[in-house]
Amino acid sequence: MARKARSVYRCAECGTEHPKWAGRCDGCGSWNTLVEEVVASAAGRAARRAAAAGTVSPVALSDIVARGPARWSTGLDEFDFVLGGGVVPGSVLLVGGEPGIGKSTLLLQCVARLEAAGVPALYVSGEESAEQVRLRADRLEEDAGPVRVLPEVRLEAITAQAELTEARVIVVDSIQTTYTEELEGAPGNVGQLRECAARLMRFAKQSGAAVVLVGHVTRGGIIAGPKTLEHVVDTVLYFEGEASGDFRVLRAVKNRFGSVDELGVFEMTARGLRPVANPSAAFLAGRATDTSGSAVTALMEGTRPVLIEIQALAAKSGYGTPQRVATGLDGRRLAVLLAVLERRAGLSFHDLDVFVNVTGGVRVIDPASDLAVAAALCSSVQDRPAPPHALFLGEIGLGGEVRPVGGVERRLAEAERLGFRTAFISARAGVSTALATVPIDHVSQLAGRLAA
Ligand code: TYD
Ligand code: MG
Repeated sequence: MARKARSVYRCAECGTEHPKWAGRCDGCGSWNTLVEEVVASAAGRAARRAAAAGTVSPVALSDIVARGPARWSTGLDEFDFVLGGGVVPGSVLLVGGEPGIGKSTLLLQCVARLEAAGVPALYVSGEESAEQVRLRADRLEEDAGPVRVLPEVRLEAITAQAELTEARVIVVDSIQTTYTEELEGAPGNVGQLRECAARLMRFAKQSGAAVVLVGHVTRGGIIAGPKTLEHVVDTVLYFEGEASGDFRVLRAVKNRFGSVDELGVFEMTARGLRPVANPSAAFLAGRATDTSGSAVTALMEGTRPVLIEIQALAAKSGYGTPQRVATGLDGRRLAVLLAVLERRAGLSFHDLDVFVNVTGGVRVIDPASDLAVAAALCSSVQDRPAPPHALFLGEIGLGGEVRPVGGVERRLAEAERLGFRTAFISARAGVSTALATVPIDHVSQLAGRLAA
């Protein structure tokens, strides 16, 4: 049996090393900051030095022939699109998302497709039994039959099996249930996560196989507490959406081999996830144009504009502090916009509960949506629908000024394609478009122009 490596506990704050775990750091006195680490043995270090001296020599950058990375395309269009063309051999991809959102389904579909395309895959399931994975596979449109399943949580066994089976794509579902016997900590703690991810990274680089890690995200949106994994891996994708709705959004937040902030949209069906080729039309389907509190904006997600609807409801609050609930939108951004509308546009929300919702389960970060949020709020307070085929584009400053946004031509073109007729945009945007424009320079003009 291999000798167990020695481990130490290092404080994440001050770096002090402790031979044993303790609740409090001896160095700086902070609590709960000790993280377990493997200590390389002296023999190991010497061997590594010898290896570094012997083998690879440095090369001038100009002598390196750079081809773009080879990629394995899954044929699941939106997935390939978000990655920048497909899975890169030798890379580590982290797919994060809340429990139940569809991570296992998505990745099982991907490996089924890769297997069919001649890329042998191994699906390591640490959370579910092989039978449960089989039941999921039976529901899918893809034939996942040839995919090999390994119910395993020990890292050493996973890499050994990956080598033995010569799999080129290995899905580890999930990284939180995986642990290495070299550390004493329980699976899922920071030390284990970091060490397991780092070893799988080494494995991927050495073997040329792609490793896909599934990571659970808590409500706060952080992958298992620490963001530690994000800098270990090559690519980080988040899978989001409202578990109650059918749309799921896949977003790249880090991508060593492609662009970030590209958005892929899927629909969860009875037979697995289906890519949505026309997200704008899908998000706007079923929109009621004759109700107050609705406004449409165009988000620029990477290279692709996507139209989404923002809904607001301002209702008389019962008692106590009025509620502010934002779904798909940052709560602090909503607070800022409400304050700006109160002070600069004379709208009053102090005795109203305010709910703002982004339809389709998209999480809005783009400040260009400010004007649409303000318009939806304004329309709800006045209980008057916004013009049915109007698009709202503009960032709102604390003074109430409306600023032009980037990528305006492409956003307007997408709106035009979907039959929109009017655009409420900053007068300073200076664009030529087939849409009729309603210039807005300040939020105080919003109420009047919406009514016109
Ligand atoms: P799952 O992939 O298990 O989510 P995660 O791995 O992120 O926890 O899928 C969760 C949900 O998807 C589950 O509620 C069932 C649903 N589902 C479908 O609606 N259709 C399908 O074809 C499959 C396989 C799952
Ligand atoms: Mg799962």
